[in-house]
Amino acid sequence: MTAVSIENRDNIALVWVYNPPVNALSHSVRDGLKNAMRAIAEDDTIDAAVIACRGRTFIAGADIREFGAPPKAPHLTEVVQIIEDMEKPITAAIHGTALGGGLEVALSCHYRIALSTAKIGLPEVKLGILPGAGGTQRFPRVAGVENALDAIISGRHIKAKQALSWGALDELVDDDLEAAALAFARTTIKKGVRRTGEMTIDGTTYDQAFFDGFRASIARRTRGYFAPERCIRCVEAAVKLPLKEGLEAERKNFQECFSNSQAKAMQHVFFAERQVSRVPGISKETPRREIKKVGIIGAGTMGGGIAMNFANIGMPVTLLEVQQDALDRGLSVVRKNYERSAAKGKLTAEQVEQRMGLFTGTMEYADLGDCDLIIEAVFETMDIKKKVFTALDEVAKPDAILASNTSYLDIDAIAAVTNRPSDVLGLHFFSPANVMRLLEIVRADKTADDVLATCVDLARKIGKVGVVSGVCHGFIGNRMLSQYAREMSLSVIEGAMPHEVDKAMYDFGMAMGPMTVSDMAGLDIGYLNRKGMDRADYETRATDWIDRVVEMDRKGLKTGAGIYDYDEGSRTPKPSDTVMAVIEEESAKLGIERTPKTADEIVERGMLALINEGAKILGEGIAIRASDIDIVYLNGYGFPPYRGGPMHYADQMGLKAVYEKICAYGEKFGERWWQPAPLLKELAEKGQSFADYDKKQGA
Ligand code: 3HC
Ligand code: NAI
Repeated sequence: MTAVSIENRDNIALVWVYNPPVNALSHSVRDGLKNAMRAIAEDDTIDAAVIACRGRTFIAGADIREFGAPPKAPHLTEVVQIIEDMEKPITAAIHGTALGGGLEVALSCHYRIALSTAKIGLPEVKLGILPGAGGTQRFPRVAGVENALDAIISGRHIKAKQALSWGALDELVDDDLEAAALAFARTTIKKGVRRTGEMTIDGTTYDQAFFDGFRASIARRTRGYFAPERCIRCVEAAVKLPLKEGLEAERKNFQECFSNSQAKAMQHVFFAERQVSRVPGISKETPRREIKKVGIIGAGTMGGGIAMNFANIGMPVTLLEVQQDALDRGLSVVRKNYERSAAKGKLTAEQVEQRMGLFTGTMEYADLGDCDLIIEAVFETMDIKKKVFTALDEVAKPDAILASNTSYLDIDAIAAVTNRPSDVLGLHFFSPANVMRLLEIVRADKTADDVLATCVDLARKIGKVGVVSGVCHGFIGNRMLSQYAREMSLSVIEGAMPHEVDKAMYDFGMAMGPMTVSDMAGLDIGYLNRKGMDRADYETRATDWIDRVVEMDRKGLKTGAGIYDYDEGSRTPKPSDTVMAVIEEESAKLGIERTPKTADEIVERGMLALINEGAKILGEGIAIRASDIDIVYLNGYGFPPYRGGPMHYADQMGLKAVYEKICAYGEKFGERWWQPAPLLKELAEKGQSFADYDKKQGA
């Protein structure tokens, strides 16, 4: 089947686009549409036309895979102008999602009819670019300036009903779009063409103050991003300028975005997110186990949040605790979370009750006997975990999947206490577990393929991004984090102030600085962990000052003081003189002459620590691909999407430069923590990137 074909239906041309899977505007489609318009213009038997798509969706946008290659004419800007300039009325018939360039094609049509289930959107901003084929000029003309700004800056999908109310669609139908579109097109023969580009916007209300106000309203959520400001400039142009000049402004801003490193980073993320669920050895044919009921052991910080994920998709959950009061506390936290959502209007009171009705509390292991998946989230102690899994082995039904939410412990050792290690794996959620998108799926030595495949699918069902990791201390995310945290803490003992470290990382784009994160997580967790370790096994220069802070009963936010001071009831960190005095004393004790550090030095040190450990994790086969590591950092650790993740960031620096810097760090700070990863050395020497490595693995 050709990408674009025409059927003549009683003087209405039905132009079909067919380019699976999502009818992206590849060269063949652009060319086909251009030719179709010429054919329609020249054919006297045709009075009007419909552009519709075969397959699961209307055109979902430009072909992102073509972004790396030199552009090939006809460009989309030309194609949409040809459509708009047609003298015969053209109607877009939309089903599925009309996104990006797809919506721009629809906007250049003279009318738009859609299935009521359809959605439209301009998601370019999520790829670091902006609608570059007239979307920033035509959408405000049909949908209104406020609505266009909302759509273009958020990139969100807009339901057909809302789009209709905005004026972006003309008619909705519940079924048989083809027949409805043909009938609609027939009515347009009399109406004639209605060109979006010829519509005008009453600019009087959209003055400088309006746009400045809008800028201020989105400043926090778009911090660090390049494209949103350019999107606003384009909409400003749509208000102030005629179409032609507005389109020129759009082109200029589009080019600026397109050549910015953020666009590459965000396009990398787009494909990385789609790769992550592909696991070598697992295919569509791998059998899955049916998960209809879930058991959770431990109703603490993690257990309750984990349980909510399943109740949210209507699955019954049995929550097991050791004592009634712990169970009651856990369930009441879950209820409070749901009630908070209800207060924000995200759930109805009835839905809160429905979800709470899916919970059963128990203190009896036997009550887990009918669960298909059981997730353990008890204290982080191997002895306790082993006891729990021994008990589980006795009560769980055959084929039940047994998972641990451990952050660091050896899943192989946990699996070994059962008589069914092939049913055991790690499901490492992130706090708050009902909110954070990341789920590390830890494949243990003996985990069966169907167990892994089931959990990869399940992650998606509960709205998580599941990343498969092998077994090692801390898996992908926390293992890298410990390197980063150490270097950030060493930066403090060598001369930076905690708030300077935080500011450097925050300005780099991290959601929070490492010191603020430590205060939020609680400094006592690491402290207690270290008490059970040999001092020779960790970097005491990085931890001794923190231990002293903890010993002053400054455990972080929960005690109202930690690395920072906090005013009563406030979560805003304030630099602490007390802690600074401790840091200075500890530096002196170590004979360190404190020297100030620039933000660039701090960022480089943190990033290189992440990258080097990431390369080790990749080389050891713990992570399947470098882009999976990026997904972990983007979804679990507040890494800025516009930098693409630590491994993509390394690629942008160039691995040779990264390797040389790490070697130089080894000379400066000692090789104990700065041994370059063998894979990094290898790729640097070959002049390759992590992306090349992923490609070579076929990943
Ligand atoms: N170009 C190339 N490939 C695309 C694509 C695109 N625009 N959109 C999706 N794909 C590919 C995916 O990579 C995936 O390929 P794979 O199976 O080989 O991994 C396949 O299509 C299916 O995609 P999903 O797995 O995402 O399928 P879903 O059904 O979950 O979602 C979708 C469908 C909502 C259309 C989603 O794919 C999506 O949001 N796509 C991106 C839409 C977009 O960003 N459009 C704007 C592009 S930029 C643009 O148009 C610029 C213009 O203004 C000039
Ligand atoms: P928590 O201390 O808040 O909760 C643990 C709960 O387990 C308590 O309610 C306790 O009563 C219960 N419990 C203890 N022993 C039990 C047993 N034998 N049977 C049933 N219940 C038992 O701990 P948290 O933070 O929820 O951590 C749980 C697990 O999740 C740990 O392995 C931790 O490493 C991991 N984790 C924690 C994260 C966090 O940010 N808190 C993030 C990711 C993983």
